[in-house]
Formats: sequence, structure tokens, C-alpha cells
Amino acid sequence: MRIVVLVSGTGSNLQAVIDAVQAGELDVEIAAVGADRPGTFGVDRSAAAGIPTFVVDFKAYADRAEWNAALTEAVQAYQPDVVVSSGFMRIVSPEFIDAFDGKYLNTHPALLPSFPGAHGVRDAMAYGVKVTGCTVHWADAGVDTGPIIAQEAVAIEDGDTEETLHERIKVVERRLLVSTLGSLAAAHSPN
Ligand code: GAR
Repeated sequence: MRIVVLVSGTGSNLQAVIDAVQAGELDVEIAAVGADRPGTFGVDRSAAAGIPTFVVDFKAYADRAEWNAALTEAVQAYQPDVVVSSGFMRIVSPEFIDAFDGKYLNTHPALLPSFPGAHGVRDAMAYGVKVTGCTVHWADAGVDTGPIIAQEAVAIEDGDTEETLHERIKVVERRLLVSTLGSLAAAHSPN
């Protein structure tokens, strides 16, 4: 199963996927890693791992439609079976999702449909929930919407800050992303 991973930042979830592949624990091919802006650590660490990388800089396009078309073309060049949004903080168009037959996977640091958006951890804390978590789902063209594949709960503890809670969520999120990709890969090539 070929995947293209899209990132906007650190790419620690991506690193977990790279590590699992390199350890022989995850049978996927990371065909490429792409970003929506230059200078992401996610792209740097992929290049260091010998993975092809590309940037489709959101700010370099006249409008969202042009950027979406360029992103679609850049990802299509690698012919992925699944595209993974791993901390990719841009909404893609319905045309992008269609171009990959809906196989657009997203991870989110909250128990969707609660707390979608760019600040899922902060918003959960601000609401005062006692349990949050993470979600891996098939993404549609909405903000963190689409059919849920896997979720796991993480308790919010007294004294948590957004950073400490997000880090604890990410530990779970990385495992959930890798195991979800493993299940998809097994279903993709059943031998
Ligand atoms: C992850 O927690 C991911 O769920 C979140 O960004 C973080 C990226 O971390 N995505 C969203 O909030 C999407 N709405 P990483 O760059 O270290 O993998």
C-alpha cells in the first residue's frame, strides 16, 4: 500500500510511521511526504530518511482553488493508495478527496465530533471535559469530519497544560495511526 503523508509542522506522527516502516512492523511504502509551506521539520525529517518530499506552498497561489489543484497534481504524481493528513492544517477541496477515491486519512487530537479544528486540545481543556483523546478517520472536505475508523480516550489530569496533554494524546495518536495503517495495508494486500 503506497501512502503520501501531508504535514504542516513537526511531523511526530509521521516519524512514528517512518519508524514502524523501518522496523519492519508496518508494511506500507511512504511514496512521498508533502507540506503546505516551506521549512517544516516534517519535510526535513523525511528527507533525512531518504523519502521524496514536496512543498505546495499555500501562499504561492492566487486562491485556494489553484492551490488545491496544484496539491492534487503533486500528490497524484506519487500514485498513492491512501493520502494521510498527519497534522496537515489545511482544508482540501472535494475534488482533492475525489481524486483519491475518498482515501484521505486524518488524525485529530480529540474525540470527534467534539472539538474539531486547529485547537482540539485547547478547546477540550477550555470546555472542561475530563476525558478527551484522539481520532483517526476518513476525512471529507469539512473540518475534521468524515467516517471514524479508530478512537482512544485520554484523561485530562489536574495540572495539565495544553502542551502536556497534547503530548500524552500524541503518544496514543501515533500508536493508533500506525495500527490503523497496518489494518488498511493488510486489507489492501491480503496475503
Ligand atoms: C497532531 O496531534 C494532529 O492530530 C493534529 O496536529 C498534530 C500534529 O502533530 N492535527 C489537527 O489538529 C488537525 N485538526 P505532529 O506534527 O507532531 O504529528
